Amino acid sequence: MTMCAPLDARRVVAVTALAGQRPVGLVVGSFFSVSLDPAQVGFCVGISSTSWPLVRAAPCFAVNVLAAGQQDVAAALSRPGAAKFAGVAWRASDGVPVIDDALACLECTLVAEHSAGDHRIVVAGVRRARVLRRADPLVFHQRRFATVAGAGHGAGDGTGGGDEVRLHRR
Ligand SMILES: Cc1cc2nc3c(=O)[nH]c(=O)nc-3n(C[C@H](O)[C@H](O)[C@H](O)COP(=O)(O)O)c2cc1C
Repeated sequence: MTMCAPLDARRVVAVTALAGQRPVGLVVGSFFSVSLDPAQVGFCVGISSTSWPLVRAAPCFAVNVLAAGQQDVAAALSRPGAAKFAGVAWRASDGVPVIDDALACLECTLVAEHSAGDHRIVVAGVRRARVLRRADPLVFHQRRFATVAGAGHGAGDGTGGGDEVRLHRR
């Protein structure tokens, strides 16, 4: 969690990858948009994270945008240790772990990593973006999980297949 955490409401995402067959990952609240064309997103990772080196070693990783009600998933994936995914339902899709009932999933590859104090700023290229269901997002505000009521509209039919978001490609 970064120092602005008490100041603003952050959307909560789970960055996940496969280490062989095993899911690895961590929760980040520092997720942000970087570029539309090409499609790029970013987030900050603490230098002490033990999961990030495993995620970055994979050829691709997923940014799972968590939905309201998924605070148990967020809590599990923000716990250090190897057993993070016990009790978290997920499926492999295109080589990345997609968390069940997530709101959206971005399939990403690493573009750049910049050192910044006790964090690293990660820039990721989005190779595919899918809205998976209609739901309100999970947010973190004043050290609590919360939600933004009424935000869950638009794409996604709730079946888990997802509506593809058209990306600018360069
Ligand atoms: C709501 C929330 C937001 C978080 N945001 C970040 C973040 O932006 N960057 C980060 O490095 N850790 C963040 N964390 C903490 C990591 O999830 C946690 O420290 C990490 O999973 C530690 O485990 P690891 O050693 O397996 O990486 C956040 C945790 C929570 C609960």
